[in-house]
Amino acid sequence: MTWAEAAVPHLKALHLGFLALWVAGLFALPRMLARHDDDLVRAEYAVIRRATHYSYVQAVTPFAVLAIASGGVLIFLREVFTVWLFAKLVLVAGLVTVHAWIGHTIVAVAESEEAHEPPGAVVPTIVTCMLVAGILTLVLAKPALEELQMPSWLTAPLGRQLPFDVPNR
Ligand code: HEM
Repeated sequence: MTWAEAAVPHLKALHLGFLALWVAGLFALPRMLARHDDDLVRAEYAVIRRATHYSYVQAVTPFAVLAIASGGVLIFLREVFTVWLFAKLVLVAGLVTVHAWIGHTIVAVAESEEAHEPPGAVVPTIVTCMLVAGILTLVLAKPALEELQMPSWLTAPLGRQLPFDVPNR
């Protein structure tokens, strides 16, 4: 067994751990932000908002980076250049979009001039659930998607030039 094969189970365990923490954050943060009801004193909401901000910057974003980095290394160790993996990456891009939207909302609530009402937690929770379910289905079932018809411009080089000069050294 090579060192790379021996490393795979450990890296997979890290990958799963990091992404569990990342996805837990994507569920928790919108729920924390949505606790903006009129019964809460402004100072109490400020405590929740600060906790949201620090969790996003110091925990959830680093876990996202580590989950994606460990997944990136796994691609090369396992040599999975397959259609299900590329489909999974499209859904992961959706999770990254939810992540960025949460970050934008945290900043908007605290730093925009006008009064900003945080959005409810239902929509981000449903979107995250659907993306995670799709990713888990792809990664655990590993469906053979090779027969999917792709447009020809995606499967063959078109021999076009870049629209700018590229240095040859
Ligand atoms: C850019 C981000 C990601 C990349 C590049 C990536 C890549 C990979 C790769 C290459 C594997 C190994 C597959 C194999 O051994 O057959 C793997 C395993 C896995 N990934 Fe990811 N992944 C990413 C994000 C995620 C996310 C967001 C989830 C779930 C929400 C996820 C769930 C899993 C699971 C459950 C496994 C174990 C599958 C198995 O061993 O059969 N991954 N990932």
